[in-house]
Amino acid sequence: MAVSYKEIGLVNTVDMFKKAMDGGYAVPAYNFNNMEQLQAIILACAETKSPLILQVSSGARKYANQTLLRYMAEGAVEYAKELGGEIPIALHLDHGDTFELCKSCIETGFSSVMIDGSHHPYEKNVELTAQVVEYAHKYDVTVEGELGVLAGIEDDVVAEKSTYTKPEEVEDFVGKTGVDSLAISIGTSHGANKFKPEQCTKNEDGVFVPPPLKFDILQEIENILPGFPIVLHGSSSVPMDLVNIINKYGGEIKDAVGIPEEQLRKAASSAVCKINIDSDGRLAMTAAIRETLAEQPSVFDPRKYLGPAREALKELYKHKIINVLGSENKG
Ligand code: G3H
Ligand code: 13P
Ligand code: ZN
Repeated sequence: MAVSYKEIGLVNTVDMFKKAMDGGYAVPAYNFNNMEQLQAIILACAETKSPLILQVSSGARKYANQTLLRYMAEGAVEYAKELGGEIPIALHLDHGDTFELCKSCIETGFSSVMIDGSHHPYEKNVELTAQVVEYAHKYDVTVEGELGVLAGIEDDVVAEKSTYTKPEEVEDFVGKTGVDSLAISIGTSHGANKFKPEQCTKNEDGVFVPPPLKFDILQEIENILPGFPIVLHGSSSVPMDLVNIINKYGGEIKDAVGIPEEQLRKAASSAVCKINIDSDGRLAMTAAIRETLAEQPSVFDPRKYLGPAREALKELYKHKIINVLGSENKG
């Protein structure tokens, strides 16, 4: 049965991005696919009064079940109210790859969709994105497009090398498609291994320092599209303390490198209105679960290891809101 996001109490991203642009901060876009992640996200955003974009990939939608997800989103809105935080919440499809998937999400309560045509030739990307925008806007659903390719895994598509967004294409793309926001490639990438060790230098503690983001490209895009909301994918910082806990308790995560927080802070104060974070949440949860199971081998009640994992996740999300994105008290 079709349902509009408006009936569920969700919002699209128009107002969120306008306020983020004017206020010089970015809205967190946190991925989820299970209850503990959703609880942690809602708790973090309600406690900090931050606006929120709840993000679901096509893989997450398959994992969680689309019907259950629709009610989880509705539950999230009610839960935030119960916590005393009347915060704006959008439900967003992350890396939608077909018109049919975007349409199906719109019919099941999503208030925003991404159509990621970045792996297609330019003209095909324009055509596909415009088709989604035409449909979505009939229902007041906002649409994110993407220009430029991020290295790493993007929803089952693996790109070995990134291709930076070409500033000379953005005006034509936004004009022809009518997208509400644009994801760009300026050196971020998906996953916990964003750069190869040989691309990095090492600091005095022996920690990899990645090459800086291409702020010159971001600035050029801002100059061409003043006031237009820009999105950064692949923005996990991959905290070394979490990687070290995972590895200490039997994990094997090698050569992990993320985006330094100060660079994300700088991006958030510019035209970047949405910052996508998934991998850091995965690391926080895995570190807490591994630690509990290793330290307390007799535990077999999932609440005993998922509970601490949920708490660790909440703290991570709050830290990002307060210290990196600047969205605290902006809800
Ligand atoms: O950008 C990709 C997101 O981290 C979602 O990943 O497709 O494994 O759910 P996933
Ligand atoms: P990370 O892998 O850096 O968390 O990026 C997530 C993302 O871009 C989701 O679309
Ligand atoms: Zn992404």
